[in-house]
Amino acid sequence: MGYRVAVVGATGAVGREILRILAERNFPVDEIAALASARSTGREVSFGEKVIKIQNLETFDFTGWDIALFSPGGAVSAKYAPKAAAAKCLVVDNTSHFRMEPGIPLVVPEVNASALKKARRGIIANPNCSTAQMMVVLKPLHELFGIERVVVSTYQAVSGAGKSGMDELFSQTKGSFVNDAPTVAQFTKQIAFNVIPHIDRFMDDGATKEEWKMAVETRKILDPDIKVLATCVRVPVFIGHSEAISIECRKPIDLAKARNALRNAPGVILRDEREDGGYVTPVECVGEDDTYVSRLRIDPTVENGLAFWCVSDNLRKGAALNAVQIAESLDEQKLIGKDSILWQPAPKPE
Ligand code: A2P
Repeated sequence: MGYRVAVVGATGAVGREILRILAERNFPVDEIAALASARSTGREVSFGEKVIKIQNLETFDFTGWDIALFSPGGAVSAKYAPKAAAAKCLVVDNTSHFRMEPGIPLVVPEVNASALKKARRGIIANPNCSTAQMMVVLKPLHELFGIERVVVSTYQAVSGAGKSGMDELFSQTKGSFVNDAPTVAQFTKQIAFNVIPHIDRFMDDGATKEEWKMAVETRKILDPDIKVLATCVRVPVFIGHSEAISIECRKPIDLAKARNALRNAPGVILRDEREDGGYVTPVECVGEDDTYVSRLRIDPTVENGLAFWCVSDNLRKGAALNAVQIAESLDEQKLIGKDSILWQPAPKPE
């Protein structure tokens, strides 16, 4: 038996990828609804071999729908995800809106799929794109060496800012060849032929919200005691986030054991050849499901330090793929449907 599945934000960069991945991985779909704003009503999107018409989220009734995968932006999720959950349609939300709220599991299935059964508000959060790819790599290393501190610099693709971010890089790049002055709208400065050390808004301590998200989400997903210093940078790449990561651990690092653990970790591929081209760059990971690790080496400047490079398709593992993997894991754990334990009242504490 399949499910009635809604995709919210279906005309966007992540929404389209969710539709593609649901079809590609044969998620058990009986009926699909593609939802977006009133602006897009009647437009068409693809779902496998089928073409489906966009419906208006504002007037859509979630009653009788089993699961909805949301990526319409934080403010829209804030309003409509609770409405879907009230109609017993389980929500997997890709925005940052609910991630840190109690009673809302934040899940990377390779790392903490067991947290899904704690969803008591009918909403499950998908982590930030940069956090998701870092989690699948840190998990096996944390099990081996006990990570205490992470220092990470990100090189984030413009698709992380949605379709309009991609359009801006494209038009600035094209414009530069005919001497057009760049039009800056989605980013704070010119992004073509440039890098911008600023993603999301500034916080009081000088960090950006993107950097804060990487720290708090790592602690919610992997271990509340891990300290994270992140510097998040937007780069002129369309798809594929890169990260330079250094970790400090409780136990001494054994490089051979680290390699072995990464080779066996689900969702991770180690490609580390220590020669020209023996590492993975973002253009090579587009359309791929795995997170690639390269440049693995001891950090001799601290005790028990390890450094590496990690890249992943931010629209897939960083967003759509992780959301679909959450749906698959919910299905495996029999948590979808109106009779699921997720809709029962929470057991009273003893
Ligand atoms: P629309 O195309 O109708 O604006 P991206 O992050 O790539 O920009 O995509 C955002 C997605 O969220 C799009 O599908 C967009 O639909 C959708 N969206 C934005 N605002 C709303 C809204 N108020 N109601 C429903 N969907 C929305």
